[in-house]
Amino acid sequence: MKRWQRKDLLGIQELSVAEINFLLNSAQAFKQVGKRSVKKVPSLRGKTVVNLFIEPSTRTRTSFELAATRLSADVINITANASSLVKGETLKDTALNLQALHADVIIIRHSAAGAPHFLAPLLKASVINAGDGAHEHPTQALLDAFTILEKKGKIAGLNITILGDILFSRVARSNIWLLTKLGANVTLAGPSTLVPRVFEQFGCRVTHNIDDALRDADVVNLLRIQHERQRQTLFPSIGEYTTMFGLNKERFARLKPDAMIMHPGPINRGVEIDSEVADCERSVILEQVTNGLAVRMAVLFLCSGGQAVES
Ligand code: CP
Repeated sequence: MKRWQRKDLLGIQELSVAEINFLLNSAQAFKQVGKRSVKKVPSLRGKTVVNLFIEPSTRTRTSFELAATRLSADVINITANASSLVKGETLKDTALNLQALHADVIIIRHSAAGAPHFLAPLLKASVINAGDGAHEHPTQALLDAFTILEKKGKIAGLNITILGDILFSRVARSNIWLLTKLGANVTLAGPSTLVPRVFEQFGCRVTHNIDDALRDADVVNLLRIQHERQRQTLFPSIGEYTTMFGLNKERFARLKPDAMIMHPGPINRGVEIDSEVADCERSVILEQVTNGLAVRMAVLFLCSGGQAVES
């Protein structure tokens, strides 16, 4: 693949392997930019990037803001409570008004699955999905893949376990689509209420036995319980969840010696992961955050029409 063709990044599901590799290779170039004394490039000078976050975020919002700043774009941040959405303005009208102010890129996080897909055909501006409901979080999956490639040198053939609340996780869905496209053996694990067997249709193995899930794992990606999207009680208590499915020191000690620990954040220490495990040498949780910057620079650059990294 020689040129990036998409104006929007809405999800991983619709991307080809060539497009995923093109994005990851571009992110590699931007990671090098981040190692220079002057970490800024003029690629998006004169462009306006809007962060439209209708759900809370620490990592994704700041990472997109910093990525756009390092590309020399002008950046505007909008949160739901500080916007006219609370006065009854529709999402479509909000986005059209931002475009009328010459926004070139609108990065959106929304609780409704499909919100970015609704906006993209209405706008000339690029639309980047920063998380839509329990549907997709494409840049998280890309930064996860980037980190695995950096640490393990490959994705094809790796045994990658995603452990936790799969049902309500957009990170899980984007990771499943990306990792299976790139040839990983993906195992999904957790309570049966949160990891239904229907996920097997995506080419994954499903298990509700944590020892089975961890035994051969090269990578363990932990997910928190997404309380904000659950409308009913799906397991007896947090304590029982931790006992049954938490990655504690004892379970960590039984992993393969080179198994790597990942988590998209925010982590709930003492629930899905013990502090000792989260902070250990084989945890790459903060490196994921660092790599997110390079990945988001690449996404902003390519969706804005860039093709080669400028110095
Ligand atoms: N991983 C992630 O999306 O974190 P935030 O919710 O803090 O953006």
